[in-house]
Amino acid sequence: MHPPRILAIESSCDETACAVVEGLFVRASVVASQVEIHAQFGGVVPELASRHHLTAVVPVVREALAQAGVNFLKDEIDAIAVTEGPGLVGAVLVGVQVARGLALTTGLPLIGVHHMEGHVVSPFLGDTEREPGEFAPHLALSVSGGHSELVHVRALGDYAILGRTRDDAAGEAFDKAAKLLGLGYPGGPVIDTLAGEGDPTAVAFPRAMLTERDNLEFSFSGLKTAVAVYVDQHGQPSSRQQLADVCASFQAAVVDVLIAKLRHARRKTGASLVTIVGGVSANRGLRTKLAEAAAADGFSFRMPPLRYCGDNAAMIGGAAALRVAAGRVPAQAVEVYASRGLDEGRA
Ligand code: KG4
Ligand code: ZN
Repeated sequence: MHPPRILAIESSCDETACAVVEGLFVRASVVASQVEIHAQFGGVVPELASRHHLTAVVPVVREALAQAGVNFLKDEIDAIAVTEGPGLVGAVLVGVQVARGLALTTGLPLIGVHHMEGHVVSPFLGDTEREPGEFAPHLALSVSGGHSELVHVRALGDYAILGRTRDDAAGEAFDKAAKLLGLGYPGGPVIDTLAGEGDPTAVAFPRAMLTERDNLEFSFSGLKTAVAVYVDQHGQPSSRQQLADVCASFQAAVVDVLIAKLRHARRKTGASLVTIVGGVSANRGLRTKLAEAAAADGFSFRMPPLRYCGDNAAMIGGAAALRVAAGRVPAQAVEVYASRGLDEGRA
C-alpha cells in the first residue's frame, strides 16, 4: 500500500493554492499569491479575494497536476481535500466548489480540512521517511495573520487550545505596526528584514501578559498602541537605522512574549516536541529564539520550511493524508465556516 495520494486545494484567504501529496511527501505545491492586489488597499479585500480565486483556481490546479505528473486523477489520486474554513467564506467557497466538482466527476472521496490543522501539519511535510504516527503528541505555536494560539496536539484530530490571543493576532500586530511605520502590507517580512539591521534594545516596547505566569493567552493590541504612541512622540523614523531600531525593538517584544508563553506551555504539558507554524513562523527572530529555547530547556523542535509557513495546499493535503492513513475520513465531506476553533466540532 502506497501512502494516500491527495489532491488538495486551499483558498481561504489571499492565496490560491493546489498541491499533490503522497502521505506527507509533497509531489507538487503551487501557490498563486494575491498579495500585490491587496497591498494597495493595506489589507485583504474579501470581495477581490473571491474574484481572483475564481480566475486563478483552474490554472493553479492544472499546474499542480502537471508538476506532479498526474494525468488521470481517478487512477492516480486517492482523495480530494479542501480547506473548508475558517477563512473568508466567499474565498473558501471557490476552492470548495472546485473540489466538489472534481470529486463528483471522478467519484473520489472529498475531505474537508480545518485550515489551522493544515498549519499544524506543515512542519511534518516533505519527509518520506516519517510515519504519520510521529505527528502526535506535540505542542504547536500557531501564529499567522488571523490566529495566535498554543495548541496541544494530543493525537490526530485531538487538539486542545491552551491559550489564544485576546485581541490582535501576532501577524496582525506586524501588519499594523508596519502600517504605522509607513512600510506597507504585509508587514511581517519587511519588519523581519529591517529588524536584522537594528538594535532590539533601542525602544522599550511592552511585553503584555507576561506577569501572570499561568496565563497562556496573548495580547498584542497594547504593543500596536505603543508603536502609535512612539510615532506620535518621535515622528516617523528619519533614518534607515532608526527605522531598523524600531523594527528590531518591536519584533523582540513580540518574539519575547511568544517564546515565554511557549516555554511555559511546554513545561505545563511536558511535551518533548515543539513546533511553530503559520505565516509568522517564517520570522527569523522567532526561529532563532525557538532554537535557543530548545537548547536551554532540552526539547526537540520542528519548523516548516519557509515555503510552507504561509498559506499553501500541501499542508491541507498532508492533514488529509494523515486522516486517510488513520482511517478517519468523516462521513459528511465538507462544511463551510468563517470561524471555528480547531478544538470545536469535528476536527
Ligand atoms: O499564515 P499566513 O500566510 O496567513 C494567514 O492565515 O493569516 O500569515 C500571514 C501573516 C501576515 O500577517 C504576515 O505579516 C505574517 O504572516 N508574516 C510574518 C513574516 N512573514 C509573514 N511575520 C513576521 N515575520 C515574517 N517573516
Ligand atoms: Zn493560514
